[in-house]
Amino acid sequence: PLIPVILSGGAGTRLWPLSRRSHPKPFLQLPDGETLLQKTVERALALPDVTRFITVTNREYYFQTRDVYAQVAGAAAREPFYLLEPVGRNTAPAIAAAALQAEAMAGPEAILLVLPADHLVQDQDAFAAAVTRARRLAEEGYLVTFGITPAWPESGYGYIEGGEALTRDGETLGFAVQRFVEKPDTATATAFLAQGGYTWNSGMFCFRADTFLSAVASVQPQLDADIRAAWTDGRCEADFRELAPTFAEVVDISVDYAVMEHADRVAVVPGDFGWSDIGSWTSFGALLAKDGSGNQVLGESVLEDAQNCIVHSADRLTALLGVEELIVVDTPDALLIARKDRDQDVKRIVAELKRRG
Ligand code: GDD
Ligand code: MG
Repeated sequence: PLIPVILSGGAGTRLWPLSRRSHPKPFLQLPDGETLLQKTVERALALPDVTRFITVTNREYYFQTRDVYAQVAGAAAREPFYLLEPVGRNTAPAIAAAALQAEAMAGPEAILLVLPADHLVQDQDAFAAAVTRARRLAEEGYLVTFGITPAWPESGYGYIEGGEALTRDGETLGFAVQRFVEKPDTATATAFLAQGGYTWNSGMFCFRADTFLSAVASVQPQLDADIRAAWTDGRCEADFRELAPTFAEVVDISVDYAVMEHADRVAVVPGDFGWSDIGSWTSFGALLAKDGSGNQVLGESVLEDAQNCIVHSADRLTALLGVEELIVVDTPDALLIARKDRDQDVKRIVAELKRRG
């Protein structure tokens, strides 16, 4: 079987104040009323051969997550299983725990499809086709990443340099990865785009449980030992396993830095499936139609002589007069006003709030 692993743990700090610790990005409602988490699970369950799926999330979000899944057709029949983290330790420990769980549930050759819970995919058919190709390479023992054609020199993504074509029965399924570079600076990213042959790492992965676990054991032996202990000592109930408190001592590192940059036999499957990670207010705004002045608005508002603004007004009226290129996000207890070209820096506000405690 194919076992989707839904990663739902990060905060999504660039979408503050809508994305909060108590209400992180996967629970964010999109203009169509659905949450990113709901869309992710629907996308996963629409794939063939999915009989179970695993969600890795903080134990704080267990009930909220169950509420979302209760609204997804077909989720209950797949008996959702939750791996609950006492604290977030980034994606490498989360995925390693999921691989151990999948191995216990379906054997070492179980194929995992790792899906961040906060991405958008517009073209389900193209996505399913990419997963089919990835799965064939995963069965051969590749760690498969999904590559997106880069549209700008984004420094917040990982970059994959593709090499030799992996062709099976006359069909090119993907490419051997020459090099994996997590979050290069803008100058390096610009050079990658000029050079060609690079794709963005989408942050979705496909591999056999045993392939991933042996890669972790060989490139991160300490992480391997620690995560096995936290998983084994965890408290297991019918539909969840709470990772042991020692999980807090597992190294805090992303799968990209910990494993993908160092492993052998990494493949990239390019896919053009309308991917977006809704990483910032500008990309959230892109989901909304523009009015005649280029404004993208959600909620009740009055705009007079306002141009190219993004407005999200959840609970009351927001009025703009004579301004341009602004992001205005109003929530009951926090208001953001930012210049549009500073959308990546919103995370600095969250960092400052965290510092203040
Ligand atoms: N369960 C759990 N626990 N999930 C986590 C944790 C954790 O501790 N940390 C992050 N996640 C989830 C996030 O919610 C998100 O869905 C996903 O894992 C990826 O984490 P991010 O923190 O959003 O990673 P990133 O955006 O900085 O970078 C990754 O994604 C990019 C594309 O969006 C990398 O894979 C990049 O290479 C990639 O380009
Ligand atoms: Mg992200």
